[in-house]
Amino acid sequence: MLDKFERYPLTFGPTPIEPLKRLTAHLGGEVELYAKREDCNSGLAYGGNKLRKLEYIVPDAIASGADTLVSIGGVQSNHTRMVAAVAAKLGMKCRLIQEAWVPHEDAVYDRVGNILLSRIMGAQTQLVDDGFDIGIRDSWKRALAEVEAEGGKPYAIPAGASVHKYGGLGYVGFAEEVRRQEAEMGLRFDYVVVCTVTGSTHAGMLVGFSTDGRARNVIGIDASCTPAQTKAQVLDIARNTAALVGAGDIVADDVVLNEDYAYPVYGVPSKETVEAIRLSARLEGMITDPVYEGKSMQGMIDLVKKGFFPKGSKVLYAHLGGAPALNGYSYTFRNG
Ligand SMILES: Cc1ncc(COP(=O)(O)O)c(C=O)c1O
Repeated sequence: MLDKFERYPLTFGPTPIEPLKRLTAHLGGEVELYAKREDCNSGLAYGGNKLRKLEYIVPDAIASGADTLVSIGGVQSNHTRMVAAVAAKLGMKCRLIQEAWVPHEDAVYDRVGNILLSRIMGAQTQLVDDGFDIGIRDSWKRALAEVEAEGGKPYAIPAGASVHKYGGLGYVGFAEEVRRQEAEMGLRFDYVVVCTVTGSTHAGMLVGFSTDGRARNVIGIDASCTPAQTKAQVLDIARNTAALVGAGDIVADDVVLNEDYAYPVYGVPSKETVEAIRLSARLEGMITDPVYEGKSMQGMIDLVKKGFFPKGSKVLYAHLGGAPALNGYSYTFRNG
């Protein structure tokens, strides 16, 4: 489905799928859990889901003649770290708007983890006071205008690389890759669990899996805590992406978004999220973060416990990255 689109390689290649044997056994063994390690997908600044998306956006950025990538996210945004890494790799400048999306507790929150890495990679980071919103933001538009006023040529990458015409393509590719891996492994996954916030990861997956009837088997776990906006954005991106790749139409019911695990608010882990982070770390040595993957891990564990997945199901947890943000939560884990 993606042959007609130009792709600029930023990742190592197909990401590994590994069985989560100890977590599976811990949860009773009736549902088999696997992880697809998107968190290990590249040597670019620890990798993560944004690189799959950016592989289809970078050719457009290069063709535009831009010299500066301009993007936006929270202070501990993984996405802005990935844009900083890509800019470095391409030899472009990078300007990042880092909004106050999270009411954080750690004193060094704005000096460690993702933002630290972005600064090391040479990005210009600007902290602004605006709160959480996955939509298009004035601060970002201002940054684009500033780059132009200074004589630069900006290329705009929205939050999460999501609301971009090519933002959904990368995760269509994920579905195609999973199908190839299923053939090699001699199995078929019944469900894919994915953390959803700005929407193009989930949207791309559901378009990719719609071709074999599995769109609704992609279980989005909302981590935005603004699920109506996130769900609408997933649907919008999925429809645009389906039209772009020539897949069949996507309807609202194809977007399965579980709203139960995003509490108390975006970027703040609940007690149960923290427990899920500890559990997958202690049983599998697999590190998840308090903002995104810890919430989808909590969701997957709880859904197994509740019997949501029929006995014998094979469930693929898409591990999308995000561990660097843990550095901003050292107080939460001060006792392990
Ligand atoms: C680690 C991680 N997981 C999940 C997500 C959610 O992906 P998306 O924004 O495409 O919904 C993000 C980014 O927002 C992320 O950085």
